[in-house]
Amino acid sequence: MLHDPNRVYVFDTTLRDGEQVPGCQLTTPEKIEIARELETLGVDIIEAGFPVSSPGDFQSVVEISKAVSAPTVCALTRANKGDIDSAVEALKYAKHPRIHTGIGSSDQHILHKFNSTREEILQRAVDAVKYAKKSVEDIEFYAEDAGRADVVFLAQMVEAVIAAGATVVNIPDTNGYCLPDQYGAKIKFLKENVKNIDKAIISVHCHNDLGLATANAIAGLQNGARQIEGTINGIGERAGNTSIEEVVMILKVHQTLGLHTNINSKNFYELSRMVSAQMRMPVQPNKAIVGANAFAHSSGIHQDGFLKNRENYEIIKPEDVGFPSASIVLTARSGRHALKFHLERLGHTFDKDELSEVYQRFLILADGKLDINDDDLQGLVAARMVKN
Ligand code: KIV
Ligand code: ZN
Repeated sequence: MLHDPNRVYVFDTTLRDGEQVPGCQLTTPEKIEIARELETLGVDIIEAGFPVSSPGDFQSVVEISKAVSAPTVCALTRANKGDIDSAVEALKYAKHPRIHTGIGSSDQHILHKFNSTREEILQRAVDAVKYAKKSVEDIEFYAEDAGRADVVFLAQMVEAVIAAGATVVNIPDTNGYCLPDQYGAKIKFLKENVKNIDKAIISVHCHNDLGLATANAIAGLQNGARQIEGTINGIGERAGNTSIEEVVMILKVHQTLGLHTNINSKNFYELSRMVSAQMRMPVQPNKAIVGANAFAHSSGIHQDGFLKNRENYEIIKPEDVGFPSASIVLTARSGRHALKFHLERLGHTFDKDELSEVYQRFLILADGKLDINDDDLQGLVAARMVKN
């Protein structure tokens, strides 16, 4: 089968990098429920856990492998035989298993985490890939802290692990350090200088320490990466990971990028709420795509423009991400147009002067109240009738 060069594979790590967040730990049944929803969403790869880390994580990988059939199920390991053996065992029921093994690639990690040398680390990387390849065909290699790694050494490492059998090479910006142009340039360098790069897919795995995880992932895709790793709601270590819903909608809105995924974006809202509830991790109201305010229009100028033509202030249709609907929130910053819209929705029609009068009383009420609901509006109308 010919590989579509514009297809971006979506690798979800909500159940691994996301679940590492303190307080977000899930039981195996909860993970299975999320994994099934991820399958419905259309993700290509589910990173189900880190089997050697605990018996519970091992069992989750086993059960998720049994529960889903379309996506590849992936298990994380460090670059050693014990971890790999455990992952192979945990993945034995997976229809499409993948081992995700790797090691540090920056001098910071090589010297101060592994107390080692570039040569030794390179050998350990190659040995791990070769060992994993004996049991599983699909091997993804992660070059941890690639964001801070010397790009020439990184290219050497990537070339060696592909020669050893890696099918996907993950270039993580583990510490969320890079600027988008730096990260994009790193991916471009690998594309242009690793001579066997056409034998593997480049994957982007970005963290959000500087708020750049999504921007960096997109920069990576623009420079030749074709797999994006992320989580639902952007949860993950420290400030989190790239948010899958953001990347997918960026590719949809910016068709000129010419890239597409297999994701059914209408499932985002429901899945976002499920992940948030199960992981006890609220979604910030202003979160792009799935936050409570993502489709709420509140200032008078925006509301007036939106009511004239939604596209004045809407680049994504709420229904495209499963969001219940756009909303016109009534506050003291709302204008007459928004008030009229809500009064008519409740069945009350006023001429211009009448509306002005109700609007003045509305402003007094709204100045003392955070937002105005339908009962408040009915109260304003009733008070006007009594008065007249
Ligand atoms: O951020 C990171 O480097 C990781 C790897 C284990 C892929 O999560
Ligand atoms: Zn990570």
